[in-house]
Amino acid sequence: MTIIGRATAQAPANIAFIKYWGNRDQALNVPQNSSLSMNLAGLYAETTVIWIDEASEDRLALNGDTTIGEALARVSAHLDVLRQRIGFRHRADVISSNNFPMGAGIASSAAAFAALTVAGAAAAGIDLSERELTTLARIGSGSASRSVPSGFVEWHAGNSHESSYAESIAAPDHWQLIDVIAVVSGVHKAVGSKMGHRSADTSDLQAARVSGADVRLENCRRAIVERDFAAFARVVEHDSNLMHAVMMTSRPPLFYWLPPTLTIMEQVRGWRAEGLNVCYTLDAGANVHCICTADTADIVRNRLMEMSDIIDIRSASVGEGSRCI
Ligand code: PMV
Repeated sequence: MTIIGRATAQAPANIAFIKYWGNRDQALNVPQNSSLSMNLAGLYAETTVIWIDEASEDRLALNGDTTIGEALARVSAHLDVLRQRIGFRHRADVISSNNFPMGAGIASSAAAFAALTVAGAAAAGIDLSERELTTLARIGSGSASRSVPSGFVEWHAGNSHESSYAESIAAPDHWQLIDVIAVVSGVHKAVGSKMGHRSADTSDLQAARVSGADVRLENCRRAIVERDFAAFARVVEHDSNLMHAVMMTSRPPLFYWLPPTLTIMEQVRGWRAEGLNVCYTLDAGANVHCICTADTADIVRNRLMEMSDIIDIRSASVGEGSRCI
């Protein structure tokens, strides 16, 4: 067996301010609405891809353990996407690790599929544009498209594989926001986002959520460009509430919140009423992402530390995109 090529990439997790929930094309992850996020510096997946001639199957080592079953099947399916694009048949060894808990509201799949895409292409020796890398990463996990470009990133919904891509709207240093993540559960969520996207249309509220998404995205983009925290907080919390309203009214319903989740959300609203630059947003999990300006992060962290039921607190500033190392 011969090694055809090898590369390692690092890709950040990201937190969405305007959420992606529901696809118009399930197989390609072409979403029903555009979304907007920031990359999380220091919370990343690191993935090595080694293309091997004459190997009979793909292999995956995840956080140090040889992995089979569903995780390997998803990685292998994504390698098929890359193989088709690159035009070869070789199998690969994939060695990947995350430095944050998986499946609990910090987008591990986004970082994982962005890193796999960037490393897979580099290991094959082909130089793809950033735009194309975002479209390929998207097929692995929609939000992975947003982990490829740097800083604040918009994913244009589009209506086809080529037109559904992500691009940076502002560099990491444009606005020093911090995501202070209150981890209230390290448990792997019962219903992952892949199933969740499929169920979005079973909620009567999804059509209403989607129809207002472009206006919310425009308001959020403007708030970021103008560094207007009050406007930012309004639209970010509203958009998160809308997504969770869809989740809770889907059939069967999806409740991701735990009791401490709601307590923290209430506190955050109170702190903002006091004048602190902080707002909350939640992904498909119970953990609360408290987005604040850099001068407010220590105060928010200290206040969260005084609360019970929080098992960990992570902080991340705005991060660069994916890169080979
Ligand atoms: O990319 P996925 O399939 O893991 O979906 C991500 C969905 C949310 O995290 C809930 C929202 C988002 O836009 O990141």
